[in-house]
Amino acid sequence: MTGLAVVTGAEGFIGSHLVEALVRRGHRVRAMVLYNMYSSQGWLDTVDPGIREQVDVVFGDVRDPASVLRLVEGAEVVYHLAALGSIPYSYAAPRSFVDTNTIGTLHVLEAVRACRTPRLVHTSTSETYGTARTVPITEQHPLQAQSPYAASKIAADKLVESYHLSFEVPAVTLRPFNTFGPRQSARAVIPAVITQLAAGARQLRLGALAPTRDFTYVTDTAEAFVALGTAPASAVLGEQFNAGTGAEVAIGTLAADIARLMGRQADIVEDTQRLRPKDSEVMRLVCDASKLTQRTGWRPRQTRDEGLRKTIEWFCEPGNLARYRPGEYNQ
Ligand SMILES: NC(=O)c1ccc[n+]([C@@H]2O[C@H](COP(=O)([O-])OP(=O)(O)OC[C@H]3O[C@@H](n4cnc5c(N)ncnc54)[C@H](O)[C@@H]3O)[C@@H](O)[C@H]2O)c1
Repeated sequence: MTGLAVVTGAEGFIGSHLVEALVRRGHRVRAMVLYNMYSSQGWLDTVDPGIREQVDVVFGDVRDPASVLRLVEGAEVVYHLAALGSIPYSYAAPRSFVDTNTIGTLHVLEAVRACRTPRLVHTSTSETYGTARTVPITEQHPLQAQSPYAASKIAADKLVESYHLSFEVPAVTLRPFNTFGPRQSARAVIPAVITQLAAGARQLRLGALAPTRDFTYVTDTAEAFVALGTAPASAVLGEQFNAGTGAEVAIGTLAADIARLMGRQADIVEDTQRLRPKDSEVMRLVCDASKLTQRTGWRPRQTRDEGLRKTIEWFCEPGNLARYRPGEYNQ
C-alpha cells in the first residue's frame, strides 16, 4: 500500500519520524497538526524540505468529530498517534486525557467507519499493562491502569476492539514500549538526562531510579507502525501487537550509561518533585515482541547504545539543545 496515509499526532516525536518513514516509502501523507494560533507545525517544521513538501498538513483536533471526518476522507490507511502522553500531567488534568485519548479515538473510529477506510493503526502503550506480573510481557498480559493516562489508553484500546468486533472496522493496535530518540520531549527520562548533562549539571535530578523499562529507538518504532500498516490484512487486523526490544534496564543504570557515553560525571539523585504516587509507579516493563516479528518480520535494528549515541549527538547540537530547558522539571 503506497496510497494516501493519514497520520494524527504527526507533528509530535514519534509522529514526525513516522511521516518521514512513510514519505521515504513513497506514500502521500496527510498530516493532522493540532490547531494552534501560531501556525506551528511542531517537529514537521524541522524535517528535511524534500520530505516536508510531500506532506499535506491539515490543522485540526481529534476532540472535534468534524475535523477528523474531513481528515480521513480518501485515506488508504490511518495512523492514529495523537494523544496526551504525560503521566504526571494526567494526575493534574485527567479530563483532558479522556477527551483527547479516549473520545478522540472514538472520533477516529467513527470517521474510518463512515469513510470505509481500509485500515486503521491505533496507538496504545506498554503503560496499559501496569507493573509486569510475568516477563517478558506478551499481548496476553492483563491490563492495569496505574495512571489516568493508562486508563484513557485502555479505554481507547477497548473502543478499537469493540468497533472491530461490532462493525468490522479494519483496525489493528500497536502497543509500543518506551521509545527514545531525537525530538523527544524532556519530560521523558532520556532527554531529561542528556539535556541536564549537556548543560554541565554535576547533579542529575530524576524521578524514581529503580523502575525498569525496555527502550526502543524511534526509527524502529516508526517501522513497527509501517509494518502494521502494510502487512496482509489477515495477519494483523483485530489484534494487538507489542513493539520493544526485550532488553530491560533500570532508570538509574540507564542514566549512568548515558553519562559514560557522554564522558560526564554527575551524581544521580531522586528528585521528590518527580516521584509518582507509590502505587501509580509502574515498576517493571519488558517487551515480548515475538508476535509482531512472526506476523510482519519487524525487529528492532538499533542497539540501545547505537540509539543513545545518535540521540546524544542530536541533543548536543546547539540549535536542538536551545529548544529545551535543562534542569527545569518538565511535565
Ligand atoms: N514516547 C513513548 O515512549 C511512547 C510509548 C508508547 C506509546 N506512545 C504513544 O505514541 C503516540 C505518540 O507519542 P509521542 O511520544 O510522539 O508524544 P508527542 O506528545 O510528541 O505526540 C503526540 C502528538 O499528539 C498531538 N495532539 C495532542 N492532542 C491533540 C488533539 N486534541 N488533536 C490532535 N492532535 C493532538 C500533539 O500535538 C503531539 O504532536 C501517543 O499516542 C503515545 O501515547 C508513546
